[in-house]
Amino acid sequence: MVWPEVDSTNSRALSQAEEVDADGLVVMADMQTAGRGRLGRTWQSPRGAGLLCSVLLLADQSAATPAIGCWLTQASAVAVCEAVCASTAVTPAIKWPNDIRHEGLKLGGILIESRSLSSKRCAWVVGIGLNCLQHRGHFPPALRNTATSLEMIAPHAIDRIDVARSLLQRLDYWCAPPRWNEVHEVHQRWSSFAEPLGQRIRLRSEGSDFSGWTVETDPVGGLIVRLDGGSLRWFDPLLTSVL
Ligand code: BTN
Repeated sequence: MVWPEVDSTNSRALSQAEEVDADGLVVMADMQTAGRGRLGRTWQSPRGAGLLCSVLLLADQSAATPAIGCWLTQASAVAVCEAVCASTAVTPAIKWPNDIRHEGLKLGGILIESRSLSSKRCAWVVGIGLNCLQHRGHFPPALRNTATSLEMIAPHAIDRIDVARSLLQRLDYWCAPPRWNEVHEVHQRWSSFAEPLGQRIRLRSEGSDFSGWTVETDPVGGLIVRLDGGSLRWFDPLLTSVL
């Protein structure tokens, strides 16, 4: 479904989760009036400038929930990076867990949400916002030095529909349930786009703040950090924000 305007493509997709054939539903919009970002932030994009896309996936509730969240976090970021590479001359990078960046500036983000359904199933929604046609003045002043768009960095004009087509192809490849067991394949691909490890990091997870150095990413457990006290700690991508 492609809408001129919705509140949030994630909300719209989740609201369809109990419908017949909801698995695999894609909702796209030219504009969101209440777009959501990670950890309670908002996601704003001028009409027609960004790619705003949500994919609904249904799974049995018995499936290991944190593992699916971790899988979708990596698979969706890989799909976005591959789609950008296939449809533009830009090679993006992933900042853990799934910020899409270029030379340190934010190009896009991914919000994964889930909801239990009445039928002992769980609905997962992968919501992607990718800045395509924005120019500097489209971003709020507070984001002008940290955000960018494909149009701002590519040496050619951006065809938003072409990027969308590539994105759906790569999401179809990576996010289909048969691949949910291929943790090492997706992790390897995710790592090939990831910004380097060994970086100083501050994190907030489940109400507490932590600081240390990034050590490794675990395909199932998330980011492994050597905390300043010396211990190693695993951070779940769905429960952690990078400060
Ligand atoms: C982030 O904070 O980095 C994640 C941003 C995710 C935004 C996308 S836009 C499409 C989908 N619908 C939403 O309401 N949010 C996501």
